Amino acid sequence: MTQDERKTLVAQAALRYITPNSIIGVGTGSTVNKFIEALATIKSTVRGAVSSSNASTERLRALGIAVLQANEVEVLDVYIDGADEIDGSGYMIKGGGAALTREKIVAAQSRKFICIADDSKRVQVLGTFPLPVEIIPMAAAQITRQFARMGGDARLRLQANGEPLVTDNGQHLLDVHGLRITDPLAFENETSQWPGVVTVGVFAHQKADVCLLGTANGVQELVFDQGQSKSC
Ligand code: 5RP
Repeated sequence: MTQDERKTLVAQAALRYITPNSIIGVGTGSTVNKFIEALATIKSTVRGAVSSSNASTERLRALGIAVLQANEVEVLDVYIDGADEIDGSGYMIKGGGAALTREKIVAAQSRKFICIADDSKRVQVLGTFPLPVEIIPMAAAQITRQFARMGGDARLRLQANGEPLVTDNGQHLLDVHGLRITDPLAFENETSQWPGVVTVGVFAHQKADVCLLGTANGVQELVFDQGQSKSC
């Protein structure tokens, strides 16, 4: 089975987490694009979605699914999104698609985070995938030095034309190479407080409740213990 087929499989499997007539949180990325296509097949049973990016909003609307603002909704039953890496506790690196800030906001509004990913995303320790960090541009050099003290090599994400990538929130992104994140909660706590950091792509406080992992043998469902970390 190809990686693409594994993504399709987990995207379809995620439909079983949707309660009829509910409003759901929808993430961003190639796996989520497949989920949005699957969602279209049951759209008459979905009240609407809160989306984590302009790209997903466009896709949802094109398929006739209503998109609400996060501020219009108090709590979402479920948030469905992909990941760049996920470890054995459900901690993730996210933001490869540059949508990490809105993804964290919608995840924090949701009772359950269902991660959909192919098995190339499953890791022992987070950090092989360069960590996305959304920043206020004037703080780039200072934050780069702070990551260097941790052994990280932070590089400004550029567009194809060589200009800095600008997020949906009008900010810049650093991709930090060379990290080994052995304590995701402590890492997220520390780096999120650095002045100029908008969002760190470690999802520890908003970790997954469940991961639907696409493998050669089909969909594997991993259920993670939330301990005390879930606030919604
Ligand atoms: C976007 C994300 C995505 O969930 C992550 O990059 C995985 O994407 P894909 O499903 O394309 O592999 O965090 O900001």
